[in-house]
Amino acid sequence: TIDIDAQQRGPKVSPMLYGIFYEDINHAADGGIYAELIRNRSFEDGPRFGAPADMQGWATVAAEPSVLAARLIQDSKKTPLLNSAQHHALQLDVKASPAAPVSLINEGYWGINAVQGRTYRLSFWAKAPAYRGTVKAELRSADGKQVYAQQQVAVFAAAKKRGWTKYEATLTALDNDAQAQFALVFDGVGQVQLDMVSLFPPTFRNRENGMRPDLANMLWQLHPKFMRFPGGCFVEGQESPDNAFRWQRTIGPVEEREGHWNVNWGYRTTDGLGYHEYLQLAEDLVAKPLYVVNVGIWHGGQTPYDSIQPWIDECLNALEYANGPVSSKYGAMRAKNGHPEPFGIEYLEVGNENNQPDPRQQSDHYYERYEQFYNAIKAKYPDMKIIGNVVAWGDDNPKWGSSLPVDLLDEHYYRSPDWFADAFHKYDSYDRQGPKVYVGEYAVTNGYGTLGNMNAALGEAIYMMGMENNADVVELASYAPIFVNENDARWRPDMIRFSSSRAMGTPSYYVQQLMPQHLGTQVLKVQLTNPYKDKVVKQITPKQSRVGYGTWNTRATFQCDKEVDCMYGDWQIEGGMLHQTGHKDATRCIQKDVIDGDHYTCKFRCRKDEGAEGFIVIFNYVDDKNY
Ligand code: AHR
Repeated sequence: TIDIDAQQRGPKVSPMLYGIFYEDINHAADGGIYAELIRNRSFEDGPRFGAPADMQGWATVAAEPSVLAARLIQDSKKTPLLNSAQHHALQLDVKASPAAPVSLINEGYWGINAVQGRTYRLSFWAKAPAYRGTVKAELRSADGKQVYAQQQVAVFAAAKKRGWTKYEATLTALDNDAQAQFALVFDGVGQVQLDMVSLFPPTFRNRENGMRPDLANMLWQLHPKFMRFPGGCFVEGQESPDNAFRWQRTIGPVEEREGHWNVNWGYRTTDGLGYHEYLQLAEDLVAKPLYVVNVGIWHGGQTPYDSIQPWIDECLNALEYANGPVSSKYGAMRAKNGHPEPFGIEYLEVGNENNQPDPRQQSDHYYERYEQFYNAIKAKYPDMKIIGNVVAWGDDNPKWGSSLPVDLLDEHYYRSPDWFADAFHKYDSYDRQGPKVYVGEYAVTNGYGTLGNMNAALGEAIYMMGMENNADVVELASYAPIFVNENDARWRPDMIRFSSSRAMGTPSYYVQQLMPQHLGTQVLKVQLTNPYKDKVVKQITPKQSRVGYGTWNTRATFQCDKEVDCMYGDWQIEGGMLHQTGHKDATRCIQKDVIDGDHYTCKFRCRKDEGAEGFIVIFNYVDDKNY
């Protein structure tokens, strides 16, 4: 029974409460929402971080290898590259003929999605002064037998230019094939150098260098009020500060962006989805941008906290790019890149998951870093809301351990469905005068819900209701992470799963969609009466149930209010009691959570008679040593 007293009003609900947290993880950007279809478009990619670049994604097709030689070239007097951001180009030595053409193919990101009637914009940079013959661009089937779109790029035959030249064409597909490939077909003779080969489908809001519409639309359907970007660990990078997100190398013409290794998540990023595009995406989603900056810490290293001025300058420059007038240095750059109006960043997070307890007891000196960033930012942008880091992993009640002012604290929780359900009241006890909370990352990641199922979504939804109930404490929240390309999952679960042609929301995604659609404005006093409360199956002897070490020969006993009909495991009901009958393998549990090496929580789902009520019986197995 739910009694609502409309006269007794609680806090106003933050209209900003629900937003999104975007990170380039699981190919969320390249091979994901960034609509580029050509993989390794500038030939800088390699098999792994530290290995030399190779022809990832590319292959040659010729009757004999001698008629098409392909190799990566580096900058030299003889072969100057396109610009200093490019470290490699592809050189083709072609000896083909109209009767025996050869092809350079690109497989895209696990296939290119050819859609009947869709027009694709092709561009590439080439140098081919001595090539004689034609070049055709094609979209075709993976076996090369069916051609869905073909366009001659006549420029080669005529190109007398010695320098790098940009060529452009469009291709309109005549059929559907989610696993199509792109090909450049040569029927002539000569040397051709290629770089920055790019193919774009129509994009979300028709932006140049824009986003894949189906994935961006799924974000749009979430009605996000803010967009936190670009991470996550992606902000920090790994191994070297070069692998961190550095905003200034991600803006301007795409051929002038170097890209970098996303070491945290195991692949290279083009930075085609760069700082400007993030801000543009937030604007297109009508979401306020929430930028997370690096405080001089990457996974595996840090700049000493008393030498972080360059990182602070980098942050201030980024803010000037987003918010400064066109008369300012970086504001002018923004205008040059097509956006004279400021983007208007109002929220800035100082670091991602820093301020963590270090197992070696070495401080990352987060508060010292924070203070310097805080002072520098507030001096220029007094209204900026500054978000601080608190312990992200393992601490259920992280605290701000400093007297430094902070507007919001970013809490992260990756837990079980039960943890989230139990956390409904988590914020009831928070200090009303303290900093506001931004739950920057949360998701069910373990327990009965690992793949983002309904149970996970319910746990998250209950937790979200608890946030709304404590609207005077929780101001912002965002589920994490959003995207996974099903062909290269680095982190599960994620709320949107996609391939080259399809996108699917998990139940968690639909919770994230549902809650903002029905966000109230003010908390009212509610009284709940649960008639089932006392009827729930009770565990009466968990502690007495000794379990032989390494065996499962206990009789765990549970008392039920009525007879229950057990659906899983070998259980018997004797006189209203539910018994486990013999030696059991732990995998008989519908879900076994390993808490640590020796402790488990097992769950068995039971059903009461024919009724619809569901019960979950939870008990602990412990071994002899730790019992
Ligand atoms: O959301 C995935 C990762 O979890 C984020 O990159 C990081 O902030 C957290 O540890």
